Amino acid sequence: MHYGDHQLKIYQAGLKGARPRMPMRMEDLEHAAGQVLSKESYWYVAGGAGEVTMDANRAAFDRYRIHPRMLTDVSERDLSITLFDRTLPSPLLLAPIGVQSIIRPEAELAVAKAAASLNVPMILSTVSAHSMESVAETMGGSPRWFQLYWPRSPELAESLVQRAEQAGYDAIVVTLDTKMMAWRAQDLQNAFLPFLNGQGLANYTSDPWFREGLERPPEEDMWPSVRRWAEQFADPSKTWKDLATLRQATNLPILVKGIVHPDDARLALEHGVDGIIVSNHGGRQVDGSIAALDALPDVATMVNGRVPVLFDSGIRNGADVLKAKALGADAVLLGRPYIWGLALDGEDGVREVIQRVLADTDLTMALAGKANFSDVDRDLLVE
Ligand code: FNR
Repeated sequence: MHYGDHQLKIYQAGLKGARPRMPMRMEDLEHAAGQVLSKESYWYVAGGAGEVTMDANRAAFDRYRIHPRMLTDVSERDLSITLFDRTLPSPLLLAPIGVQSIIRPEAELAVAKAAASLNVPMILSTVSAHSMESVAETMGGSPRWFQLYWPRSPELAESLVQRAEQAGYDAIVVTLDTKMMAWRAQDLQNAFLPFLNGQGLANYTSDPWFREGLERPPEEDMWPSVRRWAEQFADPSKTWKDLATLRQATNLPILVKGIVHPDDARLALEHGVDGIIVSNHGGRQVDGSIAALDALPDVATMVNGRVPVLFDSGIRNGADVLKAKALGADAVLLGRPYIWGLALDGEDGVREVIQRVLADTDLTMALAGKANFSDVDRDLLVE
């Protein structure tokens, strides 16, 4: 079995008259999701801090072209990778995406089940609608990581990462690019910030330290929790030296997410991180910033294999996965596309979107002349 075989299933179903339930082209998939979501929810996902960086993220992929080679043996193919001593069947992880209850009530639980069924690690956001423990429960032994929005209070940070460790999460992803929320025109237009009506706060309202400081529990009155969340959510005063407190709080590998400058990659290494995620948050934070893919080669050169380098912001298809690998990524995170799958078909929709990206990666890799993902390198591309 290869991931590419997924296309046979679709063609075979076609013999019986069946057509894919969700549109195949990514633009059409997003459009269809837009038809079933409220305007507010759709734009919360589709929008950014403006459009310049979102467009640049995609345009950067277009500037690189794959240079296929012929008559290599690609009958047996291997997309597997190893990350932190765990072998994963593919180089894909699910990016942390918060507050999925604005898409569907099952939210992260549906995504977790889809991810677990394919052994694709899910990175659960701090601002999820279901607690990290309930998400873990649906996943059995399959891989999961926890993303930390690094709160103001060290006690809360410690409590969150220790709960993640207890609940079987394999790594902590600390997102550094969100010391505050950016100016987001569409969300401002809709005056829509779901946290303010209590959505996406399950990891906080289930936290003993967080609950202790509340005048009234969230079951009675959500407002004190929302207020405490707003105080705690982010801390603009944090600097590199604060990483030491997180390091002490957990034995799990710590990755930092949001690195786009090679000097920050150097600082991250100097401060003992175990992995780096090159990302500009899908263009949702600094509009006008460098495209994530354009930041990748210099970061990878700086890291020079000392820790894993992961990548997100713009991954839409198989060629993108291969291009990111060729430019130095060990693995990639899929973001918005799986949310469109969630919107259209719940758990099945998420699974289908993941399978499509993996099938496309497998087939494109083979057709470019490579049998093993681990052999994909800079020679695959021309600029
Ligand atoms: C995000 N992202 C994000 N990142 C993070 O570290 N914690 C979070 O809670 C969220 N929440 C979130 C919500 C929504 C609606 C989006 C679209 C994105 C960023 C995410 O992890 C990833 O970096 C981007 O989605 C990558 O860009 P693309 O490929 O989705 O365009």
